[in-house]
Amino acid sequence: MIGGKKKCIGLIFGGNSNEHEVSISSAKTVFQAFNSEINQERFTVHAFYINKYGNWLDSDSSEKILISEIENNKTKNQEIFNQEKINFLEGIEFQNVDVWFPLLHGFNGEDGSIHGLLRFTKKPLVGCGIVGSALGMDKILMKTIFSNLEIPQVNYLAFQNEDLNNKQVQKKLINEILKKLNFPVFVKPSNSGSSLGISKVNKKSEILQALEKAREIDPRILVEEGLEVREIECGIIGNSQLSTSEIGEVKYKSDWYDFNSKYYSNNEITIPAEIDTKTTKEVKEIAIQSCRALNIFGFARVDFFLEKSSNKILLNEINTIPGFTKNSMFPMLWKASGLNIEQLVAKLVDISLDL
Ligand SMILES: Nc1ncnc2c1ncn2[C@@H]1O[C@H](COP(=O)(O)OP(=O)(O)O)[C@@H](O)[C@H]1O
Ligand SMILES: [Mg+2]
Repeated sequence: MIGGKKKCIGLIFGGNSNEHEVSISSAKTVFQAFNSEINQERFTVHAFYINKYGNWLDSDSSEKILISEIENNKTKNQEIFNQEKINFLEGIEFQNVDVWFPLLHGFNGEDGSIHGLLRFTKKPLVGCGIVGSALGMDKILMKTIFSNLEIPQVNYLAFQNEDLNNKQVQKKLINEILKKLNFPVFVKPSNSGSSLGISKVNKKSEILQALEKAREIDPRILVEEGLEVREIECGIIGNSQLSTSEIGEVKYKSDWYDFNSKYYSNNEITIPAEIDTKTTKEVKEIAIQSCRALNIFGFARVDFFLEKSSNKILLNEINTIPGFTKNSMFPMLWKASGLNIEQLVAKLVDISLDL
């Protein structure tokens, strides 16, 4: 190969998160892409699976999950490394790794925790750093920054660490929602993903249950005014220069884009989205501006709402470790922009090395 020895990619997946299974699906796609004929010349992959309990498995067992030789849920008792030891990284054979590719969706990973840990290995990683990851994961903080920049978004309220068992508190929160937002509202855990923990609420009597559901995941809760929207998404890659992909639109049959419609339905994906040139330009500009504001680089998927009645663009969220499953928009957006999955994963490594 040109330019020296093969790069070893440390692919980290699974994780102690409610998006564990999604991460395994994403990692399978990325693993295959690195092992494709074209990439085999440049890369080898060292797999690192973290089970649902947060324990790391050795590379051989991890790889078996990626090639479906062992099922992830059979790994329950295989605690390989004891994280209670401060120096548990010593037990992980990462010396060969040249570049980390953390594909952990959700908390205990995408929130910056894996980025912090990997910093101690002094090796580059695909994706952004601790701050961008933490901000991209926390919907309340993300929205606060977007508000400061006056980036258009839906009306929302944020509740933090409220005692939902207290009747007075319940009443206060419900009244605040009724006073400030119109139904329907979306109640969300501040830190989650894949629509997990989110409820669409149509009337007062459903609010408390929705707050409780969100609180099971995070004591920080976001309540948003629900609008009739089209959902459009834009990919970002790069470092000092961020490039945008084509813009895609997803249409689903369900009422909103919930977990089932994300992973178990045949959604209609249109790339490029049927939106006018001005909207396309604005979406791309906001995508870059918002990533910059949160110090997000490497790769990300920026999700927007387009209000049906007004055609108004509203920023929804940024995903700092976007999905790579068979149904995931991020690889599709880049394919439509001229980078197939094999080229995309190679490009992401080059970006992390600033090549
Ligand atoms: N304010 C809103 N108005 C209309 N639909 C919404 C709103 N908020 C969320 N949704 C629906 O819920 C989905 C998931 O919400 P989102 O905030 O993107 O959470 P996640 O991080 O889990 O993807 C959205 O893709 C959309 O279908
Ligand atoms: Mg989303």
